[in-house]
Amino acid sequence: MCGIFGIANKNKFLLSDVINSLKRLEYRGYDSWGIATNDDIMEKKVGEIPVNSNLGDGNAKVAISHTRWATHGGVTQANAHPHSDCTGNLFVVHNGIIENYLEMKDLLTQKGHKFLSETDTEVIAHFIEEKLNESKSPDEALQEFMKNSRGTFAVLAVRKGDNNVYAAKRDSPLVLGILDGGYAIASDIYAFSDKTNRAVWFENDEYAVINSSGFRIFDSDGKHVNRDARTFEWKEETQGHYYDHYMNKEIHEVPDVAKRLLVSLQREQKMQLEQLAGMVRKAGKIIFVAVGSSYHASLLGTFFLHKAGIDVQTIIASEFRDYTFVDEDTLILAISQSGETMDVIEALKTAKQRGARIASIVNVPYSTVQRMSELSIQILAGQEICVAATKSFINQVMLLIALAAELGYRQDYDKIPEELQRLFDFEDEVKKLARKLADSKDIYIIGRGMSYPVSREIALKLKEISYVHAEGMMGGELKHGTIALIEEGTPVIGLVDNEEIISNMKEVEARGAEVISISDCPTEFGGMQLPVGSEASFALGASMIGHLLSYYIAKERGLPIDKPRNLAKSVTVK
Ligand code: AGP
Repeated sequence: MCGIFGIANKNKFLLSDVINSLKRLEYRGYDSWGIATNDDIMEKKVGEIPVNSNLGDGNAKVAISHTRWATHGGVTQANAHPHSDCTGNLFVVHNGIIENYLEMKDLLTQKGHKFLSETDTEVIAHFIEEKLNESKSPDEALQEFMKNSRGTFAVLAVRKGDNNVYAAKRDSPLVLGILDGGYAIASDIYAFSDKTNRAVWFENDEYAVINSSGFRIFDSDGKHVNRDARTFEWKEETQGHYYDHYMNKEIHEVPDVAKRLLVSLQREQKMQLEQLAGMVRKAGKIIFVAVGSSYHASLLGTFFLHKAGIDVQTIIASEFRDYTFVDEDTLILAISQSGETMDVIEALKTAKQRGARIASIVNVPYSTVQRMSELSIQILAGQEICVAATKSFINQVMLLIALAAELGYRQDYDKIPEELQRLFDFEDEVKKLARKLADSKDIYIIGRGMSYPVSREIALKLKEISYVHAEGMMGGELKHGTIALIEEGTPVIGLVDNEEIISNMKEVEARGAEVISISDCPTEFGGMQLPVGSEASFALGASMIGHLLSYYIAKERGLPIDKPRNLAKSVTVK
């Protein structure tokens, strides 16, 4: 999961502008960064992209840049992109994994190429160099690379003295932005959505030659491809109040973006919602496919659709191939904030091969998952910078509630945004609880029925943002093993929206647990009683309280929060 950004422009631009555009992709990975131009500038460093890079007022007309999430090779200066060929005249940046890079590296080493890094990416530079030595052009070299490589890539390459940026794409996202004086090429539209709303999306196994006066796209056979530009809409949330982290800002945007989604489902997206409901009614089998928080949203979707009498299965995308039977009577509903999660894309490829219909719920427009779908609905959560999914998770669930309502689930969900707004009255109580739990080694969250997926979601946030080992589980499952881990003072958060969970909470209390209650009604445990008017708003409200709790525990522990260690916002590798 890396971010790549390139530009070919009529006029010279400041290198710091390139770095600022690259920084907009930093949520895709932030282990190291680098930049190369076609006139002898190349810099790369370990660590996050600096706010004011020391590239000063260096400028250029053609540049490529990269922000890394390490896959092959540790986080070192040598492994940072860009990577060059033996001559130092050609530079490449890459997002993806070249699965047969070792074979390619052996062949190139036998031909005398010297490698300086442990990465798979470096083989691309030497492969192109080898083809240039055979008098091929850089774009012909990329075409050959596509034929000889297995795996995923979005590649950009530049050469000293050459005004072109060369690009190639397979599975990893790549999009070209149309600027006033040239073109930007990036992993996703957010790199340039502050400069243009017109873009051209690459399809798989295409390569391109881009310069300030135009671009040419070719398919794997070298045939020129005509591709029209599209206009996209991408809500750049205003900074609004000052927040010290994107996570806190994005949690506080929840009521507004939830409202925005509900309005769109009654207006511009009403038809798509009705069409999706029609596809659900017609399908012999329905399977949600997602990962992480999106998987937890799909579990809640399963619960709400069951309330409408619709049987749905939900599968974690990386296990899709082995745990489901799919045929032309199956509807796959993919849920993904980024729309670029490779596990989900791979699952959709398998489903398509088996004849299934594909629909999706995404946040990033024109993302790969959306373009693989027969029908796709936007959750309209706007740009979500923090690696943790917060407002996007809430809007995914809101959309699934609206879908279930379209299919007969009686739920007045229009009031939910206001109910969620009221929950910020609990923020001080959450801060207090965070201070109490900040040094916990383990935290357990238990729920039943609808609140079970919420327990999983809260646990995930505590792990990825607060770095606390947490388990979210079915209350009924505790006594089948996990209860052995409960000791004096072990924190157990109970999500109370039904009777049975009370007895599970008393079982752990009897063994010394520190029981904390988040409920939709008064309970003997005290705790936070959320003023919500429905089971759906409790699911969302308890999730939001959990998001806030993970945020404030992380703050207590002085953690990075928006860019947690080892993670990236969009997991574009298998
Ligand atoms: C959520 O907080 C995590 N960052 C992660 O689990 C995320 O939900 C997962 O990677 C799925 O991403 P997607 O929705 O973009 O597919």
